[in-house]
Amino acid sequence: MKKKVVSVMLCAAMTAAVLAGCGSSSAETVSEDTSAAAEETEDVAAEETAETAEADTEESAGGTLVMGTNAEFPPYEYYEGQEVVGIDAEMAAAVAEKLGMELKIEDMAFDSLIPALSSGKVDIVAAGMTVTEDRLASVNFSDTYATGIQAIIVTEDSDIASADDLVGKTIGVQQGTTGDLYATDVEGATIERYAKGMEAVQSLSQGKIDAVIIDNEPANVFVSEVEGLKILDEAFATEDYAVAVAKDNEELLEQVNTALAELKEDGTLQAIVDKYITAE
Ligand code: ARG
Repeated sequence: MKKKVVSVMLCAAMTAAVLAGCGSSSAETVSEDTSAAAEETEDVAAEETAETAEADTEESAGGTLVMGTNAEFPPYEYYEGQEVVGIDAEMAAAVAEKLGMELKIEDMAFDSLIPALSSGKVDIVAAGMTVTEDRLASVNFSDTYATGIQAIIVTEDSDIASADDLVGKTIGVQQGTTGDLYATDVEGATIERYAKGMEAVQSLSQGKIDAVIIDNEPANVFVSEVEGLKILDEAFATEDYAVAVAKDNEELLEQVNTALAELKEDGTLQAIVDKYITAE
């Protein structure tokens, strides 16, 4: 079995397949600390709005930074009531604040994210998205802000003890993710693709599939919520998460990188991570 090999052609085919059949829903998140800041900037906003009124009919002075995500990926992005919260949501809100912009979150299918970026529907993607060679062919990635590990979830009584035992098994994944790619590479395996990672995990607990390959942090959350499952010690691969920006938007890429560097430097990013991930 070939591990850690991501096939470019395969991914391209997957993206195409996915483009054909993706639903999307949307949600909006407004950062919490807005009222005071909003009052302070009202005057500036009024001036800027007057200045740009002809060219720009957008609401907010600094403009709106639209973030695409797939809010099925705790602790990076998930719903708390009607609101999308999580590490990515807060990080993006902090980046937007640095840019003097208002963050708006668009929730959609994971594999609609890169097309949404390319078509200009969203400005950035923050979705625990792994930097891969084939994604780099269509988007740019910021500096990385987190590390992910592709983990293997099985039932507690499973005879699968390592990645090699996955040969010939039925593996569940979230469609279009790197977990999907790794699973697709497993010799003789049958791949069940789900819209949401949690659906794969539920399927596993119902005995419909043999394993799930998914990023470790959501894996931890899902396994804590569904009984009778465990995460194997042996993982598939370590990956870097980054913010994706459209290829032709170099300026925004630089702004995001500058903001991220500041957020790393002043401890904001770590504080956000610590809020959502408790060290074991
Ligand atoms: N890191 C994996 C990938 O890029 C999975 C990301 C899934 N993210 C999500 N928000 N559902 O492909």
